[in-house]
Amino acid sequence: MMPAIDRPELRGLLKTMSSWAKRLDRKSPDKTALIEFASLVSQVNANSLEFDESLNNQPLFSLRRHLAPLLYADVYRDNRIDTGIFGFRREGAAIPLHNHPQMSGFLRVIRGSIKIASFSFVDQSASIQHPSTPVRFEGEKILTPEDFAVFLDPVQDNFHSVTALEDESFFFDALVPGYLDNECKYFQPHKSVQASK
Ligand SMILES: [Fe+2]
Repeated sequence: MMPAIDRPELRGLLKTMSSWAKRLDRKSPDKTALIEFASLVSQVNANSLEFDESLNNQPLFSLRRHLAPLLYADVYRDNRIDTGIFGFRREGAAIPLHNHPQMSGFLRVIRGSIKIASFSFVDQSASIQHPSTPVRFEGEKILTPEDFAVFLDPVQDNFHSVTALEDESFFFDALVPGYLDNECKYFQPHKSVQASK
């Protein structure tokens, strides 16, 4: 059983997210649904996750005993959404550059602070056919629990890396429609790409 099932407030948020996700079509997502979905993700916090002790004591993270630098817990998944929590043990730990093709992403910091660096294809009609397909650096965002959920577009800004700026930073992540027939891919930045640390 996924942990969210035992958390009534979170279960209500996830159920409503899944309902709004019907209107987040890949090609032309409904603007109202986008705002509503982001608002729901923004309501996920340490209280709704019942998550207010040290990262090492969290029952959500089954990998905690192995001292992995990056922890992950599934929260809830159905045929419209895929949600989970990522946790970083130490400042500077990172999820390398990757994408979520054809998926809308929503990211909400629960504790600590993180930096997201984003990139887009220079040619929006391009696909990952060649290892040197050029992408454009779209900037960095620093996020804390005070910030509204960030929306990651299925096309624009679809490549990103996430870096912890504090020990024990973690964030909630929702993908629409989830992986289904898609998968995220990881990339090695070209040496000419100089994203600041
Ligand atoms: Fe991501």
